[in-house]
Amino acid sequence: MARRVIVAGNWKMNKTASEGRELVEKLKAEIAGLDDAEIVVCPPFTSIGAVVEAAAGSPIGVGAQNIHWAPNGAFTGEISADMLKTSGVTYVIIGHSERRQYFGETNATVNSRLKAALAAGLIPIVCVGETLAERESGRTEAVLASQIREGFAGIDAKEASRIVVAYEPVWAIGTGKTATPDMAQAAHAFIRSELRALFGDAADAMRIQYGGSMKPANARELVSQPDIDGGLIGGAALDAGTFASLIREALGR
Ligand code: 13P
Repeated sequence: MARRVIVAGNWKMNKTASEGRELVEKLKAEIAGLDDAEIVVCPPFTSIGAVVEAAAGSPIGVGAQNIHWAPNGAFTGEISADMLKTSGVTYVIIGHSERRQYFGETNATVNSRLKAALAAGLIPIVCVGETLAERESGRTEAVLASQIREGFAGIDAKEASRIVVAYEPVWAIGTGKTATPDMAQAAHAFIRSELRALFGDAADAMRIQYGGSMKPANARELVSQPDIDGGLIGGAALDAGTFASLIREALGR
């Protein structure tokens, strides 16, 4: 099945509102003709308003980096689905490894956030991936399986087809160490087999992005693998020219 390539920039805790606006203005000019890819930028919450304005009328979609599961209430520091939607957000990253590592995110909280995002009609980008210690001790598949089975518990196949999964091996994030295309493809094929076990044929429609030191120089080979449907990009998404080159490479241009 042909799946539309999706390339998303995760800006993490970078870019003020004016810096974000400037990046998107430049990106709009750089991506002319590349709209066969789905292009997303995920700024920090405080830059979302400016970035939504800058992206208006362009093919660039805007995502958030987290979402709370409750509709409102006493949850200091959290942001609800409705707050995101009414700010012009369409996508939301859930369960990034930095949130799992530094902010106590678990498969159970991923599941709660995922349900809130789906109920609101947002497109979730759910991150999974093993640490170096887990890979070296031969636990990669077991870790991915539990992240998927627990993270996606109670989701039906129709909802699942909207979910984007991002495979981000933790040891490849921000380290310059990319998984080889073969290694990444093996993990993506395993993830798809887990998705098939849960959702049947809907798994064939689900996009699985690779993330972890993806650059213009390696994007083409990674995204040409049969189960790699795009990228979730950190560092290389912080410069409009570099991000646009990466998108071009991912599309094989
Ligand atoms: P880098 O591209 O900087 O390795 O970050 C990947 C990532 O964590 C995207 O979510």
